[in-house]
Amino acid sequence: MTFSYAEIFSDKERFIPELLYGRQNDLKKLVNLVSKQDLTLFFIKGPRRSGKSSLLLTLLKILSNGEYKEKFGVKDYWIPIMVKLDAVSSPISLSNLLLRRGITNYTLKKLNVRKIPTYAKAFSEKIEEQLSTAKSLGGGVNLGSVGASFNKGKSFAFPFSLDLSLVADILYEASENSKIIIMFDELQYVYENWKGDRSLFLQFLKKISDEYYDKIKVVMTGSIIRPAELLLSKDYTEELHGRHIEEYDIREISFEDAEKMLIDGFNSAKISYDDYIISSALNLTFRIPGWLAYFGKYYVETKKFDNAISKSYEEMGSQIKEEVRKLKKIKKKEYYDKAIDVLVKKGKLSPTELSKELNISTHEAEIILNNLNYIDFIDEKGELSDYTVISLKRDFKEMQCPVCNKGKALIVEGLHYFVQFSCKHIVKL
Ligand SMILES: Nc1ncnc2c1ncn2[C@@H]1O[C@H](COP(=O)(O)OP(=O)(O)OP(=O)(O)O)[C@@H](O)[C@H]1O
Ligand SMILES: [Mg+2]
Repeated sequence: MTFSYAEIFSDKERFIPELLYGRQNDLKKLVNLVSKQDLTLFFIKGPRRSGKSSLLLTLLKILSNGEYKEKFGVKDYWIPIMVKLDAVSSPISLSNLLLRRGITNYTLKKLNVRKIPTYAKAFSEKIEEQLSTAKSLGGGVNLGSVGASFNKGKSFAFPFSLDLSLVADILYEASENSKIIIMFDELQYVYENWKGDRSLFLQFLKKISDEYYDKIKVVMTGSIIRPAELLLSKDYTEELHGRHIEEYDIREISFEDAEKMLIDGFNSAKISYDDYIISSALNLTFRIPGWLAYFGKYYVETKKFDNAISKSYEEMGSQIKEEVRKLKKIKKKEYYDKAIDVLVKKGKLSPTELSKELNISTHEAEIILNNLNYIDFIDEKGELSDYTVISLKRDFKEMQCPVCNKGKALIVEGLHYFVQFSCKHIVKL
């Protein structure tokens, strides 16, 4: 199969296995893991733009699309339900959304599964059946406007006040001989916005984990991992205490895969490149798929390395800055800009250092560092935990390969990381 550069360098989430560079093993492993009876809840971690959402969407596609099922040895009949939680503000709206998505086969359509399988159609009908039974029993179901606006040619009661726990029952009952995989993305919004209702979300997970583990699996991620982790805390005071959540980490892709991605795209765009350009691009984007995609797109557009790097840094940087802006508790934005500058330079930041740099109290510095940790910029030790933060600063340097003294490449200054030179030697700085 060949793809256009627009597909290879697309900045949208993707769900075609062949377009997921460097993730073939992860896909195989995940297909295996979700097929296990004793694993129910999954949490995918990784830096910004590393491809968490794409990985999960692609997993859903593989599980439900005939051609890929065969290739990956999938035996079960899977029904995918995908939910992005950014616009879901309450348990009730999540209940409605889950049922609506179940009924309409929304996710299959979204994933371009051309032929909706019979078992998925049966699943939709079963949900409707259950809802009309619930309605005739008068159980918290309302024929309100939500149902009416959702036109399937027949009128059925649309849930209005069904709680999430009941939704789990309905989905489970309706699934019959198939299995359901629910994908929750942008998990951080439940932590941020649901407040008192968080526990209802967790009870939903708990119920699935305790009672429905044989047929329902839940895969989760978010673009900011820390609040998602806090949400899924298994502290003994929390709902999920004692439940297993399988964590799965993804990181940058290998030099080989990253190089292949760029070369495939450039060849398809019939654009020339050389080893210096490719190696430098791998070094400056840290081989993070989303960053590589930005670079590739702009290199095809402008045919100039400098422009492409600078535009890709702008795109990454604006994603990152948005995170800081979204911090509700943030008071003095200038302090954060400065803190990030220092952080990027030193790779590590302690409250004392920061208070000196900014001329503020250690207490204030601590608050800033806590907030930077909350949005994943630094880990508990104050160390830079996500290289995508580097996009806010550009400190490049041309280096000669220390192995052969011949190859060259651009690198990001001040960091200790693996880089490749035009001679193809890979060196840890
Ligand atoms: N394995 C991959 N190979 C090539 N491109 C990829 C790969 N994974 C993701 N991409 C591309 O990278 C970009 C980011 O992907 P995605 O949105 O899935 O990442 P994410 O980790 O969910 O990001 P965010 O932190 O913004 O939520 C998209 O343009 C996507 O098409
Ligand atoms: Mg994402």
